This record gives sequence, C-alpha cells and structure tokens, in this order.
Amino acid sequence: MDKNRRIGVVGSGTMGAGIAQVFAQTGYPVVLMDAQPEALDRAAAGIEKSLGRLVKKGTLGHEQVPVILERIARTTKNEGLRECQMVIEAVVESAKVKSEVLVKLDEVTSPACILATNTSSISITELAAVTQRPDKVIGMHFMNPVPVMTLVEIIRGLATSDETYAEVESVTRELEKNPVEVQDYPGFVSNRILMPMINEAFFCLMEGVASREDIDSVMKLGMNHPMGPLTLADFIGLDVCLNIMDVLQGGIGDDKYRACPLMRKMVAAGHLGRKTGRGVYEYNK
Ligand code: 3HC
Repeated sequence: MDKNRRIGVVGSGTMGAGIAQVFAQTGYPVVLMDAQPEALDRAAAGIEKSLGRLVKKGTLGHEQVPVILERIARTTKNEGLRECQMVIEAVVESAKVKSEVLVKLDEVTSPACILATNTSSISITELAAVTQRPDKVIGMHFMNPVPVMTLVEIIRGLATSDETYAEVESVTRELEKNPVEVQDYPGFVSNRILMPMINEAFFCLMEGVASREDIDSVMKLGMNHPMGPLTLADFIGLDVCLNIMDVLQGGIGDDKYRACPLMRKMVAAGHLGRKTGRGVYEYNK
C-alpha cells in the first residue's frame, strides 16, 4: 500500500495503540481515534514508552521517536477518519460495539476504504454483514504486545474479496509481521487453542490443584512459556478472556468451552488484570 495513504485506528487501548505504533513505525501516517480524549493521551504515552524500549534495545534510533510520534494524529471524531484508505477497529470485544463502529466507518470513509477488525474471536462474516462493503471487511488479529509479537491472523469473512485479502496480507508483511490466513470460525486458531488453556488454569486455581504462582511456574518451567497462563490472562485482560470463552461456547455450542466460574467472578468484581491493578495477581496501578 502507498505510504502516503492514511491508516485509521479506532480504539486507543493497548491493542489500538500498538497497532497505530507499528504502522507509524513503518512510515504510514496514522489517525488514532477514540471518543475519550484521556484515552488518546494514555495511548500516546504508552507508544512513547514502547518506542523508548526499542531505542534501549538498539532496534530504533532515538532521533526516530519524534518522527514516528509525529505521524500519529489523534481525533475524538469519526469524521477524522474520512481521508483514510484503511481503518482497523480495536474497540472492546463486543459484537454490538464493533458493529456500531463499523456502521459509522461505512458512513464516513470512502467506499474504497478497507475496514479491518482486530477482533479476538467474533465472526468476521457477521461483522461485515452490517456494512455496505462486506467485500472490503477483513479480520487482522494482532497479538499483544503488538510491537513485539510478529503474528497477525488474517481472517476472511464469507464476502471478503481476494483483492482485500491480498492488500491486507501485503501491508502485514510491510509491518514486518507474519500473516497467517485462518478461516472464520469462533476464536480463529490463536484463541481457539490459547483460551481453553488459560481457562483450564483458572479451573486448576479454583479447584486448588496448585497456587497461582505454581500453576504459572509449571507452564514456564515445564513448557518454556514466557509467561504463565494466569499472568498472561492478567496481561490480556480477564474481561477479554471471558468474552472469548463465551464466544467459543456460544459459537461452537460445546460446554467444554464454559468459562471457569472463578474467572467470571473476578470479572464481575472488576478484577481485570494489569489494566485495573488487580486480576489473579496484584499490580502497582
Ligand atoms: N514495546 C516494545 N518492546 C517491548 C514491549 C513493548 N510493549 N514489551 C516487551 N518488549 C520487549 C522488551 O524491550 C524486551 O526486549 P529485549 O528482550 O530485546 O530486551 C523484550 O520485549 C522482552 O520484554 P521484557 O524483558 O519486558 O519481558 P519479557 O522477557 O517477559 O517479555 C513479553 C515480555 C514479550 C510480553 C513476553 O512475556 C511474552 O512474549 N509473553 C507472551 C505474550 C503472549 O503470549 N501474547 C499473545 C497473547 S494472546 C493475544 O494477544 C490475542 C488476544 O486476542 C487475546
């Protein structure tokens, strides 16, 4: 895709900020949109911190940081996305909210604009169906933390065109990410496999099979995972994990995907993990 073409990102949480960062790092002008101005400020601070880690690591020159930050315009209005040629939504994992966002994007962007969704598990076909351009709607599922993880699952809806797929695959490679095409079924591949594992870790904790630390140690020391499943759940967000389990159970219709009651209880208590300062573990907010 032509580097002069503008990329929109809707939702400036962890994933949206990371997606905006990697496009800006690659040289694209980006418009980061969030209805909450303070969320945009938090995102800018997070992006700057992340770029700082890359500078510390020696993978980015410090003189590049202001140049990259300069490429990211911020807006609280959908109108701010009008000039974009591709928009990725990374709002809360709710089919209702994502559909509302896609309907608005359908209205404000040019008919040629590709609408991508960073959904973790929701049907691309269903989301595309609320737009007038299902051929230009596609799943681009990034992994957290976006600047570090190289996988992007690319998911076609039933109506996604070959042109849209080719364009998105090519852009993904420009981002120095690895595109993997998966079919549009609940959880795709990543969360179809990962979330049941995380869910089982919650069942182990609830049933007292081991302590939270020991459950994580088993998977770190035994399976060489960089983070234990409970630490990873706090990192992803327990609300996100719960939403995905509910999508798996509802979409596949098998109770083996029922969410662990302990996970549901923690979400109900607002213990969502790192982002709220408390999940399975406690964090200095
Ligand atoms: N920005 C830039 N660089 C970052 C970063 C960020 N946000 N986070 C970590 N890094 C870099 C660090 O600079 C460091 O680089 P170095 O090793 O070359 O010095 C490296 O990554 C490791 O970071 P840390 O030393 O801080 O800590 P760790 O060694 O524990 O690595 C981690 C952090 C990369 C997050 C690692 O713990 C990890 O890979 N965890 C698993 C993450 C994972 O599984 N993600 C997928 C979740 S599923 C998902 O996202 C799908 C969704 O739908 C739910």
